[in-house]
Amino acid sequence: MVLSAAERAAVRALWTKLGSNVGVYATEALERTFLAFPTTKTYFPHLDLTPGSAQVKAHGQKVADALTRAVAHLDDLPTALWALSDLHVRQLRVDPVNFKLLGHCLLVTLARHYPGDFSPAMHASLEKFLSHVISTLASSYG
Ligand code: HEM
Repeated sequence: MVLSAAERAAVRALWTKLGSNVGVYATEALERTFLAFPTTKTYFPHLDLTPGSAQVKAHGQKVADALTRAVAHLDDLPTALWALSDLHVRQLRVDPVNFKLLGHCLLVTLARHYPGDFSPAMHASLEKFLSHVISTLASSYG
């Protein structure tokens, strides 16, 4: 699951390009997830999930900040994400299949907004990054 130097560089470069828009794309990815995989909505009965809702935007920003933290700590994701893993697994009891659905929608979103950057190598680097994040989040299942 370790990313090569080239894969890390690709992910970091794209993240630099996203700049302050990571929250916008994480929000789009959440909206796509709720629409394409409606069962994911069952975890958010307390939020207004209509597209463009302020609550989804606020949640998208939280997810974005966590992903940006992961990009900054590619060498040590377990330390960077342990609290988030504990939250999702022990408190929220999110079935890990759902992580992959959101990861998929993040990939679709980035491919759509950055088609010129989305070479097969970039695609592969992002898949590996997201798999690394997802397996770290799911690691509290023990
Ligand atoms: C909360 C990140 C996937 C369900 C959160 C928070 C973050 C986060 C940063 C806020 C934590 C806090 O307030 O301290 C992520 C990341 C994911 C991911 C990086 C995968 C890449 C998922 C998935 C689901 C989910 C797939 C369910 C389908 C929730 C719920 C909350 C939450 C229910 C609490 C929302 C609230 O009450 O405000 N997540 N998440 N997460 N997450 Fe995730």
